[in-house]
Amino acid sequence: MLIDGHGRTVNYLRVSVTERCNFRCQYCMPEKPFSWVPKENLLSFEELFLFMKVAIDEGVTKIRITGGEPLLREDLDSFVKMIHDYKPDIDLALTTNAYLLPQTAQRLKDAGLKRLNISLDSLKPEIAHKIAQKDVLAQVLKGIDKALEVGLGVKINMVPLKGINDDEILDIMDYCKKRNIKVRFIEYMENRHANIDLRGMHGREILDKVKEKHTIHALGREGASPSFNYKIEDGYEFGLIDPHKHDFCENCNRIRLTAEGNLIPCLYFDEAMSIAKAVKEGDIEGASKVLAQVLKDKPKENRWSEDNPNEEDISTRAFYETGG
Ligand code: GTP
Ligand code: 5AD
Ligand code: SF4
Repeated sequence: MLIDGHGRTVNYLRVSVTERCNFRCQYCMPEKPFSWVPKENLLSFEELFLFMKVAIDEGVTKIRITGGEPLLREDLDSFVKMIHDYKPDIDLALTTNAYLLPQTAQRLKDAGLKRLNISLDSLKPEIAHKIAQKDVLAQVLKGIDKALEVGLGVKINMVPLKGINDDEILDIMDYCKKRNIKVRFIEYMENRHANIDLRGMHGREILDKVKEKHTIHALGREGASPSFNYKIEDGYEFGLIDPHKHDFCENCNRIRLTAEGNLIPCLYFDEAMSIAKAVKEGDIEGASKVLAQVLKDKPKENRWSEDNPNEEDISTRAFYETGG
């Protein structure tokens, strides 16, 4: 079992396979970063997998593949298969913008992937275009349909932004309800890489929008998930991820690995330790030692505050390094 310095059990590893993305979402990567990680610094699937085996052997039971956009990495299904074959009962999921799903969903499913979390911020082509800075909606909707068709589990993530897509909360919920998939509304997390003019919606404001049409009943958190779940009158369940409250940090069960091998203990902070040298040398003991140190140093909680963020409360972490 993996226990961190605050006594929390860590069983969830999020692995980013690339920081590159085919979208330029305003809340994440509005412009191409000044420098990408050079391709030669990316760990190979075998190197990432060597660390993952150490983590699995020591207690990780849930793995999420993220990016950037993970489907940009060639042959991602072979990576999925490696993980699945090693531990078929692992909760193996992927977070994606869905753009490349029409042509990859079947292969991912066949390789052993169980579920997908997909970003869908608008059902209006021009607003989706404005957020992702590319005309993406038709292809994203095709990708969602394809994922459902091949039998992958699907959840939708929406980040409501004031004056942009805040009038679409109920429509996105309807879209998900019709397909029997869960939507999670995510409070915008301020970070220095995002477009500075964005204003997110507070969790309270998001719930108020839902209440315009539905009665809601609070269900609580699902284990260590940052999502707080609610049910509406007909039993449909949705979630709200409200990092500004950070009460879920008490039960945080996750660490993140970047594509170049930095092991990051908390989404908010830049601090990380590299496992690259260890995995390149096939040094399992070395990888295990880095893992132990990162767990020991895992911060108690993030620093997004409930009030207007002070300048020093804005995270400097690039979310595209780890897909949120
Ligand atoms: P499930 O396994 O389906 O519960 O997925 P997940 O919620 O762990 O994954 P996903 O990649 O869909 O993340 C959803 C949102 O939650 C993203 O915006 C993440 O940035 C945010 N999130 C995930 N983990 C953390 C965390 O540890 N802290 C904070 N503040 N936000 C997180
Ligand atoms: N605030 C809130 N959510 C974000 N995501 C990416 N950047 C941010 C941010 N600044 C979300 C994406 C994706 C998920 C993994 O993280 O919408 O669905
Ligand atoms: Fe790409 Fe996801 Fe970031 Fe959008 S949120 S730019 S899709 S990594």
